[in-house]
Amino acid sequence: MSVYPIKNAKALLSIQDFQKRKAEGQKLTMVTCYDYSSAAVVNASNVDCILVGDSVSMVLYGYPDTLNATVDMIAQHTQAVARGAPHKFIIGDLPFCSYRKGLVHTMDAVEKIMRAGAKAVKLEGAAGNLKAIRHIVESGVPVMGHLGLTPQSIHAFGGFKVQGRDPEVAAKIIREAQEVTEAGCFALVLECMPSELAREITEMINIPTIGIGAGPHTTGQVLVFQDLLGIQQSFKPKFVKHYLNGFELMRTAFNAYDEEVKSVVYPDLKEHGYS
Ligand code: KIV
Repeated sequence: MSVYPIKNAKALLSIQDFQKRKAEGQKLTMVTCYDYSSAAVVNASNVDCILVGDSVSMVLYGYPDTLNATVDMIAQHTQAVARGAPHKFIIGDLPFCSYRKGLVHTMDAVEKIMRAGAKAVKLEGAAGNLKAIRHIVESGVPVMGHLGLTPQSIHAFGGFKVQGRDPEVAAKIIREAQEVTEAGCFALVLECMPSELAREITEMINIPTIGIGAGPHTTGQVLVFQDLLGIQQSFKPKFVKHYLNGFELMRTAFNAYDEEVKSVVYPDLKEHGYS
């Protein structure tokens, strides 16, 4: 039994399909998602894949950054999303520090997230991570890379800032894109960087790139669920597009409910009451 009927749901993507999209010049779509009922909606949509991102710590828990996401938090939310979206390829984020304390610790985190229902994991940055990427990939787990504005390094960057405008930083990101590709990543998130840099990387490497704030030339795009639906309106970076005024629609619905209860319109005796 499902809360939402699974209409028009397409077959689960594989990492080979990611490669095919890149080879055939087709786009890819990814959204973040953290819970069962939201996942069921995405499951019934045409969106290609779901990221259970460490942004969960900001979006659902209200922390100011992603540093408070933990392996258990990601695993728990991945389980819920996997139940709601059985037809979607799910990527689980490896949170802050979970892949920086040696391979055993890294693989414990990977194991928890994969057993929770992910089909792949994502980690941020290249420096110091190449051995871990190779090891995870050799263990049979697909790895998605993430370069540019990598939010787990927010304090090193001095805030949420576009990365790669400086030619030296751009050259480093290009070099690192090559390195994570060679280490075995099957796809690469490029976050908050000049569109031309994202284009250069996308043309240079043979794996698909998935952009967020990286312009239109990447193989695919990713947006945070609550941003896409306009539920989170307090902060709107330039790259975010609201496809729905979710905040206003939800507020209107809550007010309608409040009004009807207080004026004794809802629940209606016949329509909503049991005899
Ligand atoms: O956690 C997240 O939401 C992400 C995306 C912004 C790519 O890593």
